[in-house]
Formats: sequence, C-alpha cells, structure tokens
Amino acid sequence: MMRRVLDRLGGLAFGGDYNPEQWPREVWEQDVALMRQARVNLVTLGVFSWALLEPEEGSYEFGWFDEVLDLLHAAGIAVDLATATASPPPWFTHRHPSARLVDADGVVRQHGARQAFCPSSPDYRVAAARLARTLADRYGAHPAVVMWHVNNEYGCHNWQCFCQTSAIAFRLWLERRYGTLEKLNAAWGTAFWSQHYSAWDHIVPPGAVSYNSFANPTSQLDWSRFCSDELLECFRAEAQELRSRTRQPVTTNFMSFFKPVDYFSWAPDMDIISNDDYLITDNENPAQLTAMSADLMRALSPDGQWLLMEHSTSAVNWQQRNPAKAPGQMRRNSLQHIARGSAGAMYFQWRAARAGAEKFHSAMLPHAGVDTARWREVAALGADVAKLGVLARSTPPAARVAILFDWNSWWAAELDSHPSADFSVFGQVQRWHRELWSRNVGVNFVHPNGDLAGYSVVLLPALYLMDDDAAACVAEFVASGGTLLAGYFSGIVDENEHIRLGGYPGAIKDVLGITVEEFDPLPAGVRIRLSRFGSGTIWSETAVAGLADVLAEYSDGNARGSVAVSHHRFGTGHALYLGTELEDAGLSEVFDEVLRFGAVDVDPAYTGVDIVQRFGPAHQYSFVINHSGEAVTVPIPGKDLLTGTTWPDSTLVPAGEVVVLEAQRTN
Ligand code: GLA
Repeated sequence: MMRRVLDRLGGLAFGGDYNPEQWPREVWEQDVALMRQARVNLVTLGVFSWALLEPEEGSYEFGWFDEVLDLLHAAGIAVDLATATASPPPWFTHRHPSARLVDADGVVRQHGARQAFCPSSPDYRVAAARLARTLADRYGAHPAVVMWHVNNEYGCHNWQCFCQTSAIAFRLWLERRYGTLEKLNAAWGTAFWSQHYSAWDHIVPPGAVSYNSFANPTSQLDWSRFCSDELLECFRAEAQELRSRTRQPVTTNFMSFFKPVDYFSWAPDMDIISNDDYLITDNENPAQLTAMSADLMRALSPDGQWLLMEHSTSAVNWQQRNPAKAPGQMRRNSLQHIARGSAGAMYFQWRAARAGAEKFHSAMLPHAGVDTARWREVAALGADVAKLGVLARSTPPAARVAILFDWNSWWAAELDSHPSADFSVFGQVQRWHRELWSRNVGVNFVHPNGDLAGYSVVLLPALYLMDDDAAACVAEFVASGGTLLAGYFSGIVDENEHIRLGGYPGAIKDVLGITVEEFDPLPAGVRIRLSRFGSGTIWSETAVAGLADVLAEYSDGNARGSVAVSHHRFGTGHALYLGTELEDAGLSEVFDEVLRFGAVDVDPAYTGVDIVQRFGPAHQYSFVINHSGEAVTVPIPGKDLLTGTTWPDSTLVPAGEVVVLEAQRTN
C-alpha cells in the first residue's frame, strides 16, 4: 500500500506534522510556499485538531480545514489526514467524566495535557469513531488525501487505566482468553498464596497491591496483553469507519521499541507501517539506536517497506537535556531510516510552535525563520530526498542474521520478583544489535513464531518467554544447520510465565547441550572473571556442560568452574550460549565466533560508518553514512545519486557525509 502513496507522490515522502490551527490564516499561505521551497510533498494534518473541528459535541467547524486542504492541494502537497482523536477536547471529559484515566493508586487523571482518555471507555470509542466517520465522509474524496492517520502514538500517555470500566473489560478479555475459571486458575498459578478465583467478578486489575508485595505475575503479564489489545480495539473502531467509507490506506504511528504496545500483534491491522523515532541523546551511540528502530520496522511490514512518520530536525523538548543536532546529523539520521526501508523522511513538526508544551521542540521551520542554518539544511535535505525517488521502487535491505524479539517476553522478563532488577531486555538487545551494526552486518528482527528460512544466524538476547512453537522452531533451525547464540535468562518460562522444569533454560537446554542449575546474579557493579572473554557483570550461574564444549568458565565467585560460554554441535548446526553480561571486548569476541560459525562475511569494519544496501529491479543502491569525524574510502563503486559524481572503483565519503551509490545489480 505504501507503493500506492509513493506513486501519487512521484517519489519518496518528505514533510511533517502540520498544525495550522496554531497560526493565523495569513501564515498558511507562507507555510505552503515554504513547503514547496523545501520540496515537501506530504504533510500529516489535524493530529490535534479535535477541539477546533468539533467545538461542541456533534457540531462541526470544517471551514478552516477545507481551506487548508485546498491550499495544500493547490500547491501539489498531499495529505496524510489524521482522525484528530488523540486528544479529546475539554468538553468531552466534562460530559463523560467516566472516560478519564485512573492510575494504579486509584487517582483520577484530569484533562489538560493530551491523550486523557481511558482506552476501554465506550464513550471515548463512540466519540472517536463518530469523528473518524465524519471526516471520512467529508474528506474521503478530497484529492489531497492520500492516506489516513488514525489517532496518534497510541498509548504514549494512557497505556493503562484502572477504572471500573477497565476492570470489567479486563474480565471479559480474560473470559475470551481462557473460557473457564479453571483454565485461568491454572494459567495464573493461583494455588500459590491462596489466590484461587471462584468467580470472574472477583478478579481485579493488578494495580496497587499490599505493601512490599507482588501481584500475581501471570495476571500482570495478561494485564500488559490486555492493555495493548484495548488500544488496538480503539484503533479498529476508527479504522473500520474509514475503511468502510474510503479507499486510502490506513496507518497509525508506532513508537519504535515502545514497551506497552505489542506492535507484532498490531501490524496485521495496518495498511502501512509508520514509525516515530527520536534520537535518545543521552546514549553513547544514538546512531545505532536509530538503525535499530528502523530494523524493527521492517519486521512489522510484509514487504519490509515502512514510513518514518516523525523524527526531529534538531532538539526535542522531553528529554532531561535537549541538545541541538550537530550540522549534518539530521541528514544522516533521515538517510539512515531511508537506507533501512523507510519510504521517506517526515518530521514533527513543520513550523515550530510559539505556545504550548512543545514550543522548545525543533521543527522544519524554526522560530528564527528561513535565514537559518537549520532551514537551509532542511531545504537541502528535501532536495536530496527528491533525488532518491528511484528508491520508491526498491526493496529494503536483506539480512542473514535474525534477532528474535517478542513483546510478551519483554513484559514477562521484566516483571517484579525476578532474580535481578539489573536485567534489561532492551539493554541486551541494544548491545547485541550494536555488535552487528558496528560490523555492518545486516540484521532483521523476527517474531519467535516467525519464519527463520534464509537466516544463517539467529540470536536470542534475553528471550525469557518461549512457547513450545518457538522452542521447536529454534531447535529445527539449529538441527538443520543454523547457528544460534542464546543469552542468559532466555527460554526460561512458557507463555504463562511458568518455569520450564528440569534445569534451565528448559525451552532450549537440549539444543544448547548445557544445564543451568541456579542463577546467581551479581551485586551492583561487581565483575566476575571468566577464563576467556574477559569478565562479566549482572549475572552468573551454576551451570554444567552436558554435551556442549566449554568455551569459557567462571574463574571466581560462587559460580567458579561453571560453564559461562559454551558451544554445542546440534544436528548440523551450532548452538552457543552466553551466561553473563560480558564487557564490550568479550562480547565482541563472542560475536566473532558466532559469525564465523554462521559463515556470515564481515566487511572490513569502518568505525562509525553505516553501509546498507537496497535493491531495485536492475540496480543496487549502497548507502554509506559516515557518522565519524574522519573521511573514509569504501570499496564500493557507483554513481552518487546525491551529487551525481561517479566513483569507478571506490568512493570517498568525507566526515559526516552520506553517499547513495547506484550501480548495476550484481546478484
Ligand atoms: C510524538 C508526538 C508528537 C510530538 C512529538 C515530540 O512523536 O506524536 O505529537 O509530541 O512526539 O517529540
């Protein structure tokens, strides 16, 4: 479906959120003229316009919106039309007080910010669906509208609600999942702590429980599943209105690795996968996080195409410190996304706001106006993106390495009352992804029940929860010649968060050829030495190698002599295990081994340089994105689509620069 939009745009998408209601009428014409100057061809309109489109329940003011849409259309700018339902107006809360959010302590959250609604509220769903329907009827045939943008960043501020309506909805959800109380009691393990349920009505959401205690873990896991599903039902209520009345593709913007929403379960409902990704500046490697977020999006899209719906031209307003992007950094970030499958680059937002909570958030058009470095960079990038139109018909990068990732496992792994609070799923995924990113080895994220055909190496960083199918799939992958690396605390529980008995990690113990007898997490900051690969933090274990070869054992601590890193020949494949959180150098050595076993070629490493390929019918397109402060020469020939320069053998990429080399396909 993305292709359809790109055909309309005549190339990749470039633009951002447009909030004209924040500005007087005369600014709109200036906006549109400047958009043309910057080669903007798509804007997301109306995300927060509910209060002005429907100033009172059931009474609408569309005149101003008609004008904006017509102005944009006359300028050849297409519209991703929002259903405007992300922030219900004050009248809504006033009239429907039961739709307000209630937190885990029973405190009612008032309106005055945004997303102040309970996802299970029938009043909210009815009002939102009615607005979506009204917009669909009015604008479904407007020539500017090329796609629908339902709501905005579902769950960003309201991923859970503990009101009575939510409690009832939770019980109904549980009845649908389990059918009988007997099954629920078994799944929740309620024989423990006298938690056996004898009536559905007795079940309450796992909010605040008795002091210093822990709510039933499976009830917490089901609560996460329920909360994600309830938000999805909100999406569906609106999408259904749009789809029954209009023909444009429908999307809602995801938020990368956003823990509360299981995007794997949402993805099939999307016509287009779209994503918001913001640079986390307080991280030693923000460019890698950008790559990782983009890599995740490909996993959600059937053809690997997706759209970067929002990122920032420079600073945001919501981190502890909000630094500006350095010259060239915005361009590198945007092109990183396009290299990894995005059908364009879109930003929050077009014009920097004068008022409101986001007035210090950067925009395409800054407060200081057009005579600024930022504006010049934005306009230059618009021209660059226009030169990459040929990529609209290309396929996103392929990969031979897969990281198995699952929101259910993430939720379960980080429940309370576990061996160590220092264990972080995202932290481990990020570290493992970095090992591939820094070697320019392409990687895809795959759901544990997904297809592993075509991969040489499969990685299980912190995949704590594995169902039987996932376990069988991994075993089959290794038995038939694949290479596996499993991290500690993977394969420990089933889908109900029950331990797989007989020694850890029960789901993959035979494949790994080891048995972990006891976990022995380390005190904060303590390192444990290994006989090889340096030292580890966070975790150690008492483990015995059965059929596996010991690559390293613990040299000190309680776990002294236990296997820390192992290799097992299983079927015709290789299964490696890593029982601690190695420091950087050791982790890198383990990855060298894994990639060698998996026969994955590693290009000579260019520190801080991203090299990614997309493929067209006859050509290949190599993105070389130099994040480093040094020029690099890469052995890739081709014509740079951005400058027109042809590099016959190898290409010089100056510090901070990007080239996109077009060459005949070699495979
Ligand atoms: C999100 C939202 C936008 C805006 C930006 C700020 O992506 O969708 O409305 O708040 O964050 O970074």
